Amino acid sequence: MTTLFEPSPAMPSSNGQLASRQYGRWPDRLLGFSGILWFLAAAAGQWIFVYYVAASYLPALAQNGFPGLADTALPKGYVAGDLIGNLAIAFHVLIAIVIIGGGPLQLTPQIRSRFPAFHRYLGRAYMLTAAMTSAAGLHLVWTRGVPGGMVGHIAISLDAVLIWICAAIAIRFAVTRQIDRHRRWAMRLFMVASAVWFFRIGLMFWFMTTGGVGIDPETFEGPFLTFMYFAQMAIPLLVLQFYFQAQDSTGAGLKITAALVVLAATGVTVLGSFAATMGMWLPRL
Ligand code: HEM
Repeated sequence: MTTLFEPSPAMPSSNGQLASRQYGRWPDRLLGFSGILWFLAAAAGQWIFVYYVAASYLPALAQNGFPGLADTALPKGYVAGDLIGNLAIAFHVLIAIVIIGGGPLQLTPQIRSRFPAFHRYLGRAYMLTAAMTSAAGLHLVWTRGVPGGMVGHIAISLDAVLIWICAAIAIRFAVTRQIDRHRRWAMRLFMVASAVWFFRIGLMFWFMTTGGVGIDPETFEGPFLTFMYFAQMAIPLLVLQFYFQAQDSTGAGLKITAALVVLAATGVTVLGSFAATMGMWLPRL
């Protein structure tokens, strides 16, 4: 199985020595392997999240309409008389199934090469729905609020802006056929559009490993939460950037270091997904 996280071909060293090119092969393979492993862990974790989203919100909406959202985990899922807000939250959670379910499919090269029309179709749907649901999310944040006070409001609003920026740049490079640049911006978009999932697995990883240091369970505020509100976007983007730098580099040391960082991220992803599944998603179903 290969993914868009596979390595770029070993690049010649600056002095063109064949020996260093050969030396560079196994670090390249290690880097590619770490990327594939992380991608598989993330795809599995995201599809469990999608299962939870579909199983909680589809029946609630189908059986009781908007008022059904009052009995879900959403803090203010239903507000009587607020038609726009109720529409926004229903759209937001339903469209999440397309976005989170479709993201990993979009990053799988076998699907892209064997079914190019599907890739283009899903790609457009992914970018459009991510941009639209961010607008719906912004409306909800600033009318109904989110836990975490002003920091939470600002951080999640920043995520909406990042989603729009990454989607716009990814589309631009697709249109101008700059495919490598398009691929990298699409992967950045995947990271920021997955922030809602990163937040949950990061939080549950922290609870599992520290018991929740730096989190006030009453107010849902505290230093760790402040960190997490921004880390949900910053850490995935930084690790991805490091991975790109290592792919482009000729240095074996950088490739090995980046591979170790991605392997560590894979460990956190697996543990966090497990903790979120057992401690948050399954108990709500
Ligand atoms: C495009 C990526 C996004 C996806 C896939 C997504 C998905 C979701 C999902 C599945 C939930 C329900 C969570 C649960 O049951 O635990 C949720 C809740 C929510 N989302 Fe998003 N979201 C995205 C981006 C945003 C953005 C950018 C904002 C705001 C600017 C936002 C605002 C909210 C709000 C206010 C809630 C309800 C309160 C809460 O659970 O914190 N979302 N989102």
